[in-house]
Amino acid sequence: MNEVLNCLETRRSCRAYRPEQVPEEALQEILRAGLYAPSGMGRQSVKLLVVQDPAAIAALERLNGGVLGSPDAHPFYGAPTVCVVLADAAAFTAVEDGSLALGNLMNAAHSLGIASCWIHRAREVFASAEGKALLQQWGVEGEWIGIGHCILGYAAEPEKPAAPRLEGRIVRI
Ligand SMILES: Cc1cc2nc3c(=O)[nH]c(=O)nc-3n(C[C@H](O)[C@H](O)[C@H](O)COP(=O)(O)O)c2cc1C
Repeated sequence: MNEVLNCLETRRSCRAYRPEQVPEEALQEILRAGLYAPSGMGRQSVKLLVVQDPAAIAALERLNGGVLGSPDAHPFYGAPTVCVVLADAAAFTAVEDGSLALGNLMNAAHSLGIASCWIHRAREVFASAEGKALLQQWGVEGEWIGIGHCILGYAAEPEKPAAPRLEGRIVRI
């Protein structure tokens, strides 16, 4: 199997992280892969916010947990880097553009030995007054839809194998 296909098949979601930070060079490559995802009409509607400050991560976690009804939960599992994927609310394909970018981030991370997971509820977080206030505080102007968070770091536990693929999901006509 070629390297790309192997990477796509072996990436798994990681839910326990070591505290060491992702090396800057690897982070730059991961972000670049996110920016090269396709986008509807080539509008490049996605913005990536890289959050590594523990206080800012904690603030995001509180809002994320709040959507779940558990503000003290740790939905980012101790990951030292959180990449918030936003998409321009004016783009017709905002959700699709952001989802593809997030997929690129996770697969690129895996190709470099960095663990990742998509963490949801960005839509609710950045639609809330608190989420909008954070964006303002971070100097992000305009109307944005929260697509997801890509948490990044080194896995603290061995990966679990992939669930078996469900049958009947390919239909040849
Ligand atoms: C749209 C989406 C939202 C997800 N949200 C979460 C989440 O909030 N928390 C979490 O731990 N995993 C989340 N995941 C990860 C999935 O649970 C995971 O991809 C799935 O169980 C399959 O496992 P794998 O990624 O290891 O193949 C999400 C994945 C997707 C695609």
